[in-house]
Amino acid sequence: MRTKPALRPSPQNSSWHLERFSEPDLERYRSVFHRVGDEHLWAARLLMGPLMLARFLTDPGIEVYVLTTPSGDQGLLELDFRVDKNCELSLFGVAPDLVSTGAGRWLMNHALEIAWSHPIDRFWLHTCTLDHPNAFGFYLRTGFVPYERKVEVYDDPRYLGLTRRDAAPRVPLL
Ligand SMILES: CC(C)(COP(=O)(O)OP(=O)(O)OC[C@H]1O[C@@H](n2cnc3c(N)ncnc32)[C@H](O)[C@@H]1OP(=O)(O)O)[C@@H](O)C(=O)NCCC(=O)NCCS
Repeated sequence: MRTKPALRPSPQNSSWHLERFSEPDLERYRSVFHRVGDEHLWAARLLMGPLMLARFLTDPGIEVYVLTTPSGDQGLLELDFRVDKNCELSLFGVAPDLVSTGAGRWLMNHALEIAWSHPIDRFWLHTCTLDHPNAFGFYLRTGFVPYERKVEVYDDPRYLGLTRRDAAPRVPLL
């Protein structure tokens, strides 16, 4: 995405709040990372040790936001501004209970407002076949345009003991 698109309508829900995650509270961060990402075998931040993760979260080029609800942290938005004029949507998602409730669109509209309030000319992301099947169409409707396809190979975080063994049962644990 090279310019800010028109925001799509999103439902308002007075129990959804966006909180900037400024303290390097690793336990809280890992907990919401697991809640949102376990069913999609997210591993990137679980592979970071405590020191590396704390450094990452306090890097001035990284902005992390949490979608909070009365039942806890239910969404994660991570923006990486470390490359000049670029923003990578490095993590994005809501917990399983909030999928298909409009919370994803609500969170994306916040992501667009925050990202494009910086002096960038490119907002981009990775998605993969392990992510939620809604993700690709959702990103196209948002205004992202596909530009590259790759094969990525990484170790299964369940096998490494970083994610619970019964996560993502649709994906065989070989
Ligand atoms: C990817 C993800 C954000 C997609 O969100 P989603 O749950 O399909 O999408 P939403 O429920 O927010 O919205 C889908 C559409 O329905 C609309 N909608 C859904 N519920 C609604 C409601 N109650 N009222 C009004 N509109 C609603 C939304 O506004 C949106 O419309 P649009 O996309 O045409 O603008 C979500 O599935 C997710 O977080 N998955 C888990 C993590 C993941 O895979 N992340 C992607 C990593 S790259």
